[in-house]
Amino acid sequence: MINKILNFFYLNNCFRFAIYFLKILSFFDNTYKKKISFYNYFKKRKKRYEKQILQILHIPRVFIINFPNDTEKIINQIYNYEKLYKANEFSNDGHLEVYQSEHNLNENPNFNEISENLEKFVNLKLQNFTTYKKLKIDKLWFVITKDSGIIKKHSHFNSDFSGAFYLNVEENNKNNNGLKLYNINENLEIYRYSNNENKFNVEVSKDKTLLIKPRKNDLIIFNSYIEHSVENKNAKIDERISLPFNLVF
Ligand SMILES: [Fe+2]
Repeated sequence: MINKILNFFYLNNCFRFAIYFLKILSFFDNTYKKKISFYNYFKKRKKRYEKQILQILHIPRVFIINFPNDTEKIINQIYNYEKLYKANEFSNDGHLEVYQSEHNLNENPNFNEISENLEKFVNLKLQNFTTYKKLKIDKLWFVITKDSGIIKKHSHFNSDFSGAFYLNVEENNKNNNGLKLYNINENLEIYRYSNNENKFNVEVSKDKTLLIKPRKNDLIIFNSYIEHSVENKNAKIDERISLPFNLVF
């Protein structure tokens, strides 16, 4: 019943009512509190969604796909970026030992090709989930994480899906480095693409967090509201390089 009411509010863009309702419920049962952030995310975007889009976005999903692409070429372009290591609005956001470029690389001619390739590839692989709508890359940037770098817990506002393409990573199973996703409602669906079978294999995670250890050429895409963090402690590589992006319908 409670879920039906929440769903009704959600599918009718009444995120504020869902939040009030959960606040009242949490007087009686504190576990409802953790559901609030989901509706807050939609409320903060101040946008009216089509019902179909809300249905697509409802369940948190993460997609892990190998993306065959010339990573060396992109790494070269990153090291030749005219503003490399220059301060920008993302320099002081509290992350440690991390450099982020400006977020408009999708408009930079040197990154046009990879931006278009990523967009095409994402739409091809996710077509069964996005149904009739196409996703567009709205922001694209690169991140260079030093071997002790930390990206604190955050989520990406103003987009529907977010992702990262991994260009240089440490492939070591012994440490806890990688991309950590927070599974607040314990309903995260994990889709791993099998190149042999040409399809996704799915599992649902009930764990509070999910640590993904990306391999080179991995493309990881998830709902933008999913909070995540990154650690790169004592990595054997000097610089972990990724190309994150935001996607909008
Ligand atoms: Fe992020």
